[in-house]
Amino acid sequence: MDHFYPPVAEVKLSELLSALSHALDITEGQPEGHSLRCCWIGLQIAEELELDERQIWELYYTLLLKDLGCSSNAARICELYLVNDLEFKRDFKLIDGSLPQALRFVLSHTGLKAGLAERFRAIINIFQNGGEISIELIQTRCQRGADIARKMRFSEAVAQGIGNLDEHWDGNGKPARIAGEAIPLYSRIALIAQVADVFQKADGEDAARKEIKNRSGTWFDPALAAAFHTVSGRPSFWDSLNSPDLHEIIYDIEPVHHASVVDEDYLDDIASGFAEVVDSKSTFTKGHSERVTLFADLIAAELGFSPERRRWLKRAALLHDIGKLGVSNTTLDKPGKLDADEWMEMKYHAVQTEAILSRISAFRELASVASAHHERLDGKGYPKGLKGDEIVLESRILAVADIFDALTADRPYRAAMPVSKALSIMAEEVGKATDSQCFEALRKALERFHPRVAA
Ligand SMILES: [Fe+2]
Ligand SMILES: [Fe+2]
Repeated sequence: MDHFYPPVAEVKLSELLSALSHALDITEGQPEGHSLRCCWIGLQIAEELELDERQIWELYYTLLLKDLGCSSNAARICELYLVNDLEFKRDFKLIDGSLPQALRFVLSHTGLKAGLAERFRAIINIFQNGGEISIELIQTRCQRGADIARKMRFSEAVAQGIGNLDEHWDGNGKPARIAGEAIPLYSRIALIAQVADVFQKADGEDAARKEIKNRSGTWFDPALAAAFHTVSGRPSFWDSLNSPDLHEIIYDIEPVHHASVVDEDYLDDIASGFAEVVDSKSTFTKGHSERVTLFADLIAAELGFSPERRRWLKRAALLHDIGKLGVSNTTLDKPGKLDADEWMEMKYHAVQTEAILSRISAFRELASVASAHHERLDGKGYPKGLKGDEIVLESRILAVADIFDALTADRPYRAAMPVSKALSIMAEEVGKATDSQCFEALRKALERFHPRVAA
């Protein structure tokens, strides 16, 4: 089984974070590759401004990780606007904040699927408290993003770059309403890059150029808007931006003297940072990835795994639900039974987990192990319907840890169960859904901590 946990000394930070940035794109409801395209756009502006290597390196990661806090306001958006958070976030980026546009947006996005009375209540609330609500939503997102960047060992300049992404040149941005050069340079560049990409994807190059020009002096620093105008006037700018090999171009433009190779400890920090992004998406996913990691590690220790193998498995556990960032909160937090479409959306998270993680060459095995956490021994699981021996031991451990946490945590449709009840429900499924050896290992490990509850 040694091939399951190869050393990862070969992983480049740029490759790792470009791949994981796809998880942020799906949370923001953006077309795939949004963060990578922002990275390209922002770096072209930086070159035009002749920023030094250190600044370009910091800007590179500010741009790739600008949406790190994105999942933290998704549940609140759903609750306030009664809408699918992914569609809301996608469309919200297209409005410019003027009152008529904002009103139209609220009316067309609030509670389309909800009953009339409920929709009315939500709209009134937004009209009465709209300003404070949007400040709250953006503040949560910005602070969270900056905090996670710090945990991933980025400099204060990167954290501040992410934390001030929604401030506008004229002081009418959010949440701090700072203006002009008081806004960190990286944030000013990232905002232009973000708006340019959203508009070029929705309506093409000319629309993007026009939008940046129109908002110069209000949203954007005029000098940076002018730099964008210059670089986006070159055909090669758009060719690279829309190239299928943009990820390769992005690896190549990382300043060489700062390019970092990720060691094992750093990789753990990045995995736990992304686990936090996943867990922040919903009250019902809060702490889930962390707890699954703890339970999986208890099982692995009980089964006598070596320290290296345990470490590898912990990483898979931290990232097992990264695909959930693509599931809307209307589905994730639904207090009742999911309909057929919602169930499809939910199941798709396991496919997304594999798609995101397998972009990292050293993570290929980890991707398939992590994405198999909903497979069942009897073949009735998902996403692939694997059976018996087709499910490797590591995935079986994740499945047991995942089910145990699902039963012992609050769900949208029921309260948390006591450990003893969860274990007796799980005992019924041994051999059908789950592996007996892994289940016994969990029971033994829990007994050590809580002799009575696990009995
Ligand atoms: Fe899952
Ligand atoms: Fe899970």
